[in-house]
Amino acid sequence: TQADVQASRVQVELSQNRKPRPDPANLSFGKVFTDHMLTIPWKASSGWGAPQIHPYRPFSLEPSVGVFHYAQCLFEGLKAYRDETGKVTLFRPDMNMERMNTSAQRIALPAFNGDEVIELLKQLIRLDKDWIPNVPGYSLYIRPTMIGSQPVIGIAPPSEALLFVICSPVGPYYPEGFKPVALYGTTEYSRAAPGGIGAYKLGANYAAGLIAQKEAAKKGYVQNLWLHGPEHHVTEVGTMNAFAVFKRPDGTTEIATPPLDGMILPGITRDSVLNIARDHVAGKYKIAGLPDKLVVSERQMTMREVKEAAQSGSLVEFFGTGTAAVISPVNKIGYLGEDIQIPTGPDGMGPVSRPIWQQLVGIQTGIIQHPWSVVV
Ligand code: COI
Repeated sequence: TQADVQASRVQVELSQNRKPRPDPANLSFGKVFTDHMLTIPWKASSGWGAPQIHPYRPFSLEPSVGVFHYAQCLFEGLKAYRDETGKVTLFRPDMNMERMNTSAQRIALPAFNGDEVIELLKQLIRLDKDWIPNVPGYSLYIRPTMIGSQPVIGIAPPSEALLFVICSPVGPYYPEGFKPVALYGTTEYSRAAPGGIGAYKLGANYAAGLIAQKEAAKKGYVQNLWLHGPEHHVTEVGTMNAFAVFKRPDGTTEIATPPLDGMILPGITRDSVLNIARDHVAGKYKIAGLPDKLVVSERQMTMREVKEAAQSGSLVEFFGTGTAAVISPVNKIGYLGEDIQIPTGPDGMGPVSRPIWQQLVGIQTGIIQHPWSVVV
């Protein structure tokens, strides 16, 4: 029979040489890792083995394993926060576990019980919680990953896999605050196609995106904007979901993001922004500063619409959402040889993203009580 992940089977090996904690002032994203990690092996014949929490260390893998040849790799990203009382919380970890299982299914890697892995995540974070800098804007970035680890170069669904989790203390994505970014509208490459893998958090998506980012940087832009199809539909901002805000002729303000049509990564920050905006509209949690006449849309938008709105003054703002940067405002989009200017406020943000960001970060850091925040 196939065993599922069981947190109660965990074996813990504590690190005997704890590393020095980094100075928060010089942390750059994802370069420093905590003392411990979690590994859970899987075999097609027996299922998930005993989870192991052990010192952070290199793997020893055969050169033939699937991940090295056929991109049998998926990942997740979530953050743990520590408040001034020392309480540690995770933000919507159930969403990450659900998406991780969806990604696994797409590339024939094994499914697992997400609640058991959350329990193991909590144990790991409790061990390394003093790595979370006690400074506002800082957190522990948690990177669950799964790879195909069968030592076979025949192409087949993996007969062995490894789920592992590493943790990295991180600061605010932009240390100087919300620095709006300039995007290059990519029409030379596609990020995703119908029936493809764009809606899954697979390493392969990110590998295929790097060239577009590199070329955008060469042209003087910070990130690329993924445009899809002959009408150049707006899809994603680099590795983030895309949002636009429009002023409509009827006096309402519309916050819009592309729908989850199979080509969009179902971002947890994306979902949280939509929920916060919808709760505000429904009167469930009123957000100070957000327009009352707000319309929340998951719909397609073309670059033509964005460009015309920018030119007529009805484009209020444009931003990306993701776990790493939370909200990333955009001030310019290079599109077919011309630069479209986008309004940004004095703090870099806009009138809709600012109050939503405040609410989101308030929930994430425990200042605002909300069921999304899960105590470690
Ligand atoms: C994000 O958090 O926005 C991501 O997509 C993860 C990134 C570091 C690849």
